[in-house]
Amino acid sequence: MITVSAPGKLMILGEHAVVYGRPCLVTAVDQRLSVSAERSDDGKTHVDAPQVKETRFVDAAVSKFFQTKGKALDQTGVRLKIRSDFTHQVGFGSSSAVSVATLRALAILFDTPVDDDEIFQLAYDVTLDIQRVGSGFDIAAATYGGTIAYQKGRPVSSFSHGVPLIVGYTGTKADTPTLIREVAAKRALYPEKVERIFDAISDLVNQGKKSIASGDWELLGKAMNFTQEYLRDLGVSSEKLESMISGAKKAGAWGAKLSGAGGGDCMIAIAPEDKREDVENALVQAGGIVMDVTTHSRGVRVESRDFPVAPATYGVPRTIFLEQAPS
Ligand code: MEV
Repeated sequence: MITVSAPGKLMILGEHAVVYGRPCLVTAVDQRLSVSAERSDDGKTHVDAPQVKETRFVDAAVSKFFQTKGKALDQTGVRLKIRSDFTHQVGFGSSSAVSVATLRALAILFDTPVDDDEIFQLAYDVTLDIQRVGSGFDIAAATYGGTIAYQKGRPVSSFSHGVPLIVGYTGTKADTPTLIREVAAKRALYPEKVERIFDAISDLVNQGKKSIASGDWELLGKAMNFTQEYLRDLGVSSEKLESMISGAKKAGAWGAKLSGAGGGDCMIAIAPEDKREDVENALVQAGGIVMDVTTHSRGVRVESRDFPVAPATYGVPRTIFLEQAPS
């Protein structure tokens, strides 16, 4: 048996625009999802996933692995046990974490060298097969971990540290594919206006990159506030998100915004350390749930195994250009 885990994620800046080729900033969180895998000799795939609403992504990841790596499933069955620190409701990216962890677990179990870039690509293909839409930023976070700048299809650069975010959950699940399609409809109607919004969001991501590299959280907060205005213009905010965001700002946060597709899921805020508690109380006052989350978690990794493993099947950590603080 091998157990592999992959982290959830939080979008810091750049959502929606990243679907149209602009950069975004994403961090992996310490809430993780694990996949334990062992061979089964009945040639079938067995999935035990009580916390996962549906196992489409697991099934698709298993098929993708056997299709691309050429092992006949009728000879080699597999038993998978999925456990998670978070539910699919909160928008931490359970589908991407489960796809990435399943692929890495199978690579190790079936002694197949697959590097992290290939795991990323296979998991991204699984997502596109199922959802048709999405930038893959969540898969990048689950695969590579840490805090990264990402542009559709590839991680661009990384940071040496995370961001001390305060995270509030609205209590409602967002429907990401629907929200992506709503933005696409708006773009079809007002192409120039929406492209200008994406460009503005992209500028804020570039500013945010410098702020994260230098640890200037006040400036990052400003980029978050500006981004939220553009996301509101795109029509993806909600009343609950707005009241949590304005509550956080009134309580002293430097900045606050929705994180992810919008419509529900989570919002994030950044605040001086001595205002953190006030901000958290304000989120509760606004009807939200404060999530205990640390950023900059490690990407997909082996948790335990009861057989010897060839190092190549662990994946080679990708070296991504490290963002330095501007001098
Ligand atoms: C959803 O969490 C973020 C979006 O940008 C979609 C994506 O990048 O796949 C809206």
